[in-house]
Amino acid sequence: MPFTLNRRSFVAGGAALVGTRFVAPAWAKAAPVSLPIPKLVDGTSGEPLNLTIRKGLWSFMPGVATPTLGINQDYLGPTIRTRRNSELNLNYHNTLNEGVSVHGHGLHVPGEVDGGPQLEIAPSQRWQPTLSIVQPAATCWYHSHTHGKTGEHVYRGLAGMMIIDDDMSDDLPLPRTYGVDDLPVIIQDRTFDAKGHLVYSLKDADEDGWLGETVIINGAISPVARVPAGKVRLRLLNGANARFYIVTFADKRTFHKIACDGGLLSEPVEMTAMEMAPGERCEIVVDLADGAPAGLLTLFEDQFDDEEEGVLSTLLDRFLSADRPAPQPSLTLTPDKALPAHTAPLPGKMAEIVRPKPSEIVRTRDFMLEMDGGKGGGHAGHAGHGAMSMTINGAVMDMSVINEEVKRGEWERWRIRADQGAHPFHVHGCSFLIEQMEGAPVTPDQQGWKDMVVLDDDDWSEIVVRFDHLATKAYPYMYHCHILEHEDHGMMGQFTVS
Ligand code: C2O
Ligand code: CU
Ligand code: CU
Repeated sequence: MPFTLNRRSFVAGGAALVGTRFVAPAWAKAAPVSLPIPKLVDGTSGEPLNLTIRKGLWSFMPGVATPTLGINQDYLGPTIRTRRNSELNLNYHNTLNEGVSVHGHGLHVPGEVDGGPQLEIAPSQRWQPTLSIVQPAATCWYHSHTHGKTGEHVYRGLAGMMIIDDDMSDDLPLPRTYGVDDLPVIIQDRTFDAKGHLVYSLKDADEDGWLGETVIINGAISPVARVPAGKVRLRLLNGANARFYIVTFADKRTFHKIACDGGLLSEPVEMTAMEMAPGERCEIVVDLADGAPAGLLTLFEDQFDDEEEGVLSTLLDRFLSADRPAPQPSLTLTPDKALPAHTAPLPGKMAEIVRPKPSEIVRTRDFMLEMDGGKGGGHAGHAGHGAMSMTINGAVMDMSVINEEVKRGEWERWRIRADQGAHPFHVHGCSFLIEQMEGAPVTPDQQGWKDMVVLDDDDWSEIVVRFDHLATKAYPYMYHCHILEHEDHGMMGQFTVS
């Protein structure tokens, strides 16, 4: 399936990072650890789930305790399981000495329980939202959305996965045993200093955002997961602050993508490699019936030659055969024949995805993401530091300004584009459908419900979107770039739904 890589590098370019930050740690060579599986908490009974936001100490490297943040655990949070047509009651308790807001990314819930920056939980306070889950089965996530601090909080650990089930997906022959053949895979990258502490600085982030050199999966470096020798479902979440990954297997085995951000595709799509932007989720099923271990590669898209364009698999072949050490798998799946395997064929038809007719689309809005334009601009365009101005339609995020007013229940076309670089654009309170991405028709693996779309400076990305819930002036929804440093530098806007 054709896929074009046509990212233009930002002013700084990926290579500029070399030498300016800490090098990859020697611990990466240590004996393999098991994939940490975040505890699964069942929210379907309606009982409130206690979620304590706290400090932690987490071993990314054996024998090194790294100060972190987490939710009920030292790093990241539990996986929250909920169900369509149920109520999810959350009871957040902020034990940090700074305010935190926690957003349910991908959830179709009203603005007053969306967890945006207006809903900051003060130190030692609680926040107890009730979320009516009305959307189809999907892999969502929750993370800090604290004004100006989202990047730092997520980097230190304030994020977790959320799984929504429904009757339709329960009836499909898909692997669904959490932690066995249905694995959460949270992909992030981190920079560690000589002591093994996390290095992060919003003000030192350059145009690319904060990129770490070491990939971690659920907080572990190159872990191994023992899995059944059959079909295994991976719920991949790009939970990185800024990194775009190319996801593929070391032995180039094919896999099937079964779901996008907002739920199942209409049918499984066979692939050998795919791009994942920050904030995106992709559910894939990989078959390990051959009994051979499968190494998941999460390659840094910025290391691919910017000048080259072409089909992803060709670029990948060139990348992997080039004169550089073979990339280490970020996660190795090791099949164990003793475990009960899911061997049923994949379903042919899954979700029914109905696109609006052109006549149903009542309005078009344009959004231009700019790296140093708009008011307060003046960053001279040289690589590196300084007060960058990140704007959408010429404005930096201002908590007291409502940028757009939307009517509930009406389809709209949103056209989004950037003045430079690639950006993953996210919209709260909905799932949308992509009509075109960077000027190109949407590929089959992106034809499902989404809440992330990549755009760049080449041409418009276009989505069709409809909001079914309300967001008031006091608790508006956000749209923003999901490069968290861009978001924290102001590449975000607020909108109401009435
Ligand atoms: Cu995942 Cu507004 O964020
Ligand atoms: Cu969101
Ligand atoms: Cu951006």
